[in-house]
Amino acid sequence: MCGIVGYIGKRQAYPILIGGLHRLEYRGYDSAGVALLSETDKLNVYKAKGKVSELENVAQEKDCTGTIGIAHTRWATHGEPSARNAHPHVSESGNLTLVHNGIIENYVVLRDQLKSRGYHFQSDTDTEVLVQLIEYVQQSLGLNLEQAVQAALKRVIGAYAIVVLDRRFPNRLVAARKSSPMVVGIGEDQSEYFVASDASPIAEYTTQMVYLKDEEIVVCERGRDLHVFNLSNEDVPVEVKNVELDLTMLDKGGFPHFMLKEIFDQPAVLEDCMRGRLLPEHRRIVLSAVTDHRERLTQARRFIIVSCGTSWHAGLIGKQLIEHFCKIPVEVEYASEFRYREPVIMPDDVVMAISQSGETADTLAAIELAREAGAFVFGVVNAVGSSIARNTDTGTYIHVGPEIGVASTKAFTGQVCVLTMLALALGEARGTVDPGEYHAVIEELQHIPEKIGRILEQNDRIEVLSKIFTYAHNFLYLGRGWNYPVALEGALKLKEISYIHAEGYPAAEMKHGPIALIDQEMPVVFIATHHQQYEKIISNMQEVRSRNGRIIAIITEGDQVVPGMVSEYIEVPETLACLAPLLSVIPLQLLAYHVAVQKGLNVDQPRNLAKSVTVE
Ligand code: AGP
Ligand code: GLU
Repeated sequence: MCGIVGYIGKRQAYPILIGGLHRLEYRGYDSAGVALLSETDKLNVYKAKGKVSELENVAQEKDCTGTIGIAHTRWATHGEPSARNAHPHVSESGNLTLVHNGIIENYVVLRDQLKSRGYHFQSDTDTEVLVQLIEYVQQSLGLNLEQAVQAALKRVIGAYAIVVLDRRFPNRLVAARKSSPMVVGIGEDQSEYFVASDASPIAEYTTQMVYLKDEEIVVCERGRDLHVFNLSNEDVPVEVKNVELDLTMLDKGGFPHFMLKEIFDQPAVLEDCMRGRLLPEHRRIVLSAVTDHRERLTQARRFIIVSCGTSWHAGLIGKQLIEHFCKIPVEVEYASEFRYREPVIMPDDVVMAISQSGETADTLAAIELAREAGAFVFGVVNAVGSSIARNTDTGTYIHVGPEIGVASTKAFTGQVCVLTMLALALGEARGTVDPGEYHAVIEELQHIPEKIGRILEQNDRIEVLSKIFTYAHNFLYLGRGWNYPVALEGALKLKEISYIHAEGYPAAEMKHGPIALIDQEMPVVFIATHHQQYEKIISNMQEVRSRNGRIIAIITEGDQVVPGMVSEYIEVPETLACLAPLLSVIPLQLLAYHVAVQKGLNVDQPRNLAKSVTVE
């Protein structure tokens, strides 16, 4: 998840590139860079850690002339955020420069091969391997730039959207994509071309867009028509679309709020999260953290999960996953409580920190205690190179890209996805997971993104349904087993963006007190997917109905019982019990979002809240 911009034409490239990076900053901004080819064919590359404005400070007073250039705002996956690791990256000869969005999974093997052929690397990134590989095939096979890009990409495993320029050929840019997005804008009379991660940096210059498809390569040459071909060397017809974008919505990729964009990002970012780790063709899960620390993790006496808020809810699911597949006891602690209660931590404990931002003060303090006690610290973090990530012994990044909306959505499903893969990999290493179940979960997990997509198709219906509940002052969310943490998460989503009080509870606990609250003024959300304890959830629903409670139910597609019992229901596709949270949470995210929008509230920056609670 990053932002790419390229330009070739008759205008000065720098202002177009920098303006484009600002439009793409929502895609990630831990560092940024720009490469420009001056009128004298000098390649000028400027890079900076931090936001695009930092890059502008670095480039100030420097030579930023030139009518061809590429630029990048980075969301690091390999190599900490720094100027050194920022893109563009330059080849050994200094002739080629490249920007990249995605992950080159086999970069270590390729880097070792290139090093053995005398190539040197300036960064820790996977991307730099790509620009060196293109140069290597260009020189060794005597290819032109686009042919070298094609030959190199055939050796690459992973996801990419790239733009490359060769200072010896100042009239062309070459771009290519696989799994990461890439759009080409056509300027006036083929005299200029724009390339970007999405339409937002291009829309102010042209409405003529070409959306590259996977494994397609495009040559943008001044004064010539676009040439598109694929890795199989077949020319591809250029399909030009007329794209009229509302510039005011551009920063959110066309969505009215970052939160809705991130809810809709979930199918794609969970694919990113699983890429290179869930290997269905090998019917295996491979996590480097488990491979590298197998002994320490499989011999853990106990897992202690420390986290806050939504990440704590993900931890509750992690507990059930690890205990179910690994038969290791797990305790889930609010980091803010854990850090002050003088916890007993043993050296053979594994303390797991779950954090989207990687900067939450309470969670950071909790793992400090763990380190002092000699425990092994494992991180499940989104922000690469964040404080928590740097204070763990190992970990698994969730790779869902920057989460801008304060209410966490895609990070939650990314965390649960990583915890599922971790529990399976660890269970297989320990020999405690049933092989049949292991393979069944792997098989089903790869279909989860598509199933989430099917739920998102109900967005309009959930928007209408939400109108019924904007009056409410209190909500109750009830779930059992795997769905109990989802009840807590759904309640938190509603609370933090609609300011309506909502409480998540284990459904069976309702009769121990909360049932006194039930009346027709209090909507009750039941998560009643078709898994174990389903019949008991039905009984709980009857208890609410007999007290005139108003029920919204999340049910499995095809449920014949619940629709006749409730006023509203939302269906989710069938899946395995342990994967149910990944689906049942989606309608609750949308419900909270639409209730808040109906109430005219600031969905992305709710009152009193911060995206990362770096204070205690
Ligand atoms: C969730 O929607 C909230 N924004 C909040 O509870 C958040 O999950 C919590 O502050 C933890 O943040 P972290 O995951 O970045 O550590
Ligand atoms: N994997 C590359 C890196 O870490 C690209 C990340 C991105 O898409 O921004 O530099």
